[in-house]
Amino acid sequence: MTSVAPSPVKNIVILMSGTGSNMMAIARAAQREKWHDTLGARLACVISNRPDAQGLALAAQLSIATQVIDHQQFNSREAFDAALQTAVDSYQPVLVVLAGFMRILTPGFVAHYAGRLINIHPSLLPAFTGLHTHQRAIDAGCEVTGATVHWVTTELDHGRIVRQAVVPILPGDTADTLAARVLSQEHLLYPQAVRRLLQQLRKPSS
Ligand code: GAR
Repeated sequence: MTSVAPSPVKNIVILMSGTGSNMMAIARAAQREKWHDTLGARLACVISNRPDAQGLALAAQLSIATQVIDHQQFNSREAFDAALQTAVDSYQPVLVVLAGFMRILTPGFVAHYAGRLINIHPSLLPAFTGLHTHQRAIDAGCEVTGATVHWVTTELDHGRIVRQAVVPILPGDTADTLAARVLSQEHLLYPQAVRRLLQQLRKPSS
């Protein structure tokens, strides 16, 4: 096996599956705030498990490298995760950012990226893990909900909280109206969380 010299730049890899609006919020913040100059960091690649993910074209428009690893081409979760890991590792990322990445990751993958793998979830964790978070928050009579950026563990939507945003639930809210308001807060929250983590991370030795 050949060894690869560590990258002097703090690489970020984003994994996503669909619209990619959180990915774009991070990408735009990185460009607007010149993360390369101010944090020594860059968004190295956006990887999708779905070839039809809208976010792929959006990332390409910002000249960000994209890659597709189609989970349907693999006959086991382990085989898919192994291919994904090879692709992600080629960038030696300091941070692997799940942004609407709708796949359950194997324990081996999660362990490999321990301390480098974060996710955003549309609820105030630990409340409402899993799906249909907005409807469940409305049905429970919550006055507030929100979004959480957290470290990824093997347990779905668990892990130490990095940062949260609170969003009020208004009279007459539907799951859709609430989801839209939460999503707009996600677009502020996720770039803030990534920036803060990059500031805390030590530059990889060269
Ligand atoms: C976001 O609301 C994100 O919080 C959610 O998927 C959406 C992706 O939107 N993630 C989860 O539910 C993970 N458990 P995007 O593709 O436009 O960023």
